[in-house]
Amino acid sequence: MLLKAISPRLFFQKAPVNTFLKSNIIRTMSTASTMKAVYVNEQGGVDNLVYSDIPVPKVDEDSVLVKNRFVGVNYIDTYQRGGVYPVTLPFTLGREGAGDVVEVGAKVKDFKVGDRVVYLGGATYAEYTNVTSSAVEKLSDEVTYEEAAAIGIQALTAWTMVRDGYNVKKGDTILVHAAAGGVGLLLCQMIHHLGATVIGTVSTDEKAALARENGADHVIVYTRENVVDRVNEITNGLGCHAVLDGVGKSTWEDSLASTRRLGTLISFGNASGVVPPIKIQCLTAKNLKLMRPQLFAYLATREESQKWWSEVFDLLSKKVIKLHIHKIYDLKDAKQAHIDIESRKTTGKLLIKL
Ligand SMILES: NC(=O)c1ccc[n+]([C@@H]2O[C@H](COP(=O)([O-])OP(=O)(O)OC[C@H]3O[C@@H](n4cnc5c(N)ncnc54)[C@H](OP(=O)(O)O)[C@@H]3O)[C@@H](O)[C@H]2O)c1
Repeated sequence: MLLKAISPRLFFQKAPVNTFLKSNIIRTMSTASTMKAVYVNEQGGVDNLVYSDIPVPKVDEDSVLVKNRFVGVNYIDTYQRGGVYPVTLPFTLGREGAGDVVEVGAKVKDFKVGDRVVYLGGATYAEYTNVTSSAVEKLSDEVTYEEAAAIGIQALTAWTMVRDGYNVKKGDTILVHAAAGGVGLLLCQMIHHLGATVIGTVSTDEKAALARENGADHVIVYTRENVVDRVNEITNGLGCHAVLDGVGKSTWEDSLASTRRLGTLISFGNASGVVPPIKIQCLTAKNLKLMRPQLFAYLATREESQKWWSEVFDLLSKKVIKLHIHKIYDLKDAKQAHIDIESRKTTGKLLIKL
């Protein structure tokens, strides 16, 4: 069931007006029949984003309808808008949100109308989102909707990477690209907390200062410094135990060169473009391990999802992770949010407030 919720082929919600009144709903608050949403009819540039009215989605027997308060903006939204990742058109953007349960499907036992929740799903650039209940987590009173929407994808991605992708240990040295970005700042905080040395790469001095404030021990401003030379200087020529690369195409060669013998290279994103096909022999000289993760494969079962969410909530409550909100946009300004995140001028998290 979760797989349905997390499929990249997320359908535009085509439910006819008022279908939510059908019998697979056991509890409901009064909800509107149409809502504002941001979707694409065709993949392409930011001008392809359409802000308009669409029907409120229909709740399924095993799902809940969430009235969104905050939804996260993620790089994946730009890939799904722009065509890096395939989608079924028309396609409503967005993969995470926080808000209130307003309808509950007939088979759902764990949630009730009025529950404050956070979730990962699809079609979240909208006032309401229909979410498979297995992908929903209740919020404790201490966590705000804003915090919940801000930690979802980025903190879970960072934490799964440093716990499972490469199990960061005290004394390790880890290279983090885009260290002042949304995932990047969280990686700096988490790796510092785990007792390892963080080397971050960033494009500007302002970003360097922010990365340092968030736990980076060394920061390389790659626009004026050579990344591989600096990594070798810092590590006495050994390289890093792990390299965490969300930038992709433009950093691949530096990442490969910066990973130490027996080290791990994790390529987890395409901000600069998709890494071109590689020859597997590139791993041979140093016996490297290579991983290309995607968060949703870590959350495939209810148990896994709860485990990772509870660990991330714990990090938040213990203030191991502190959220850096870059800007909060109105839904109608989603286009500006996409322009900003792609401009490389943002740091931390971008949110949309409903
Ligand atoms: N695998 C997964 O499941 C998963 C989950 C979440 C995110 N991700 C990936 O993680 C990466 C970071 O995501 P995020 O949301 O936290 O974004 P972000 O890091 O806040 O923004 C991307 C950053 O990448 C750097 N960058 C370098 N070259 C770039 C280029 N040509 N165009 C744009 N940016 C460039 C920029 O930082 P500088 O100015 O410092 O270079 C920019 O600020 C993305 O690739 C995203 O797809 C993957």
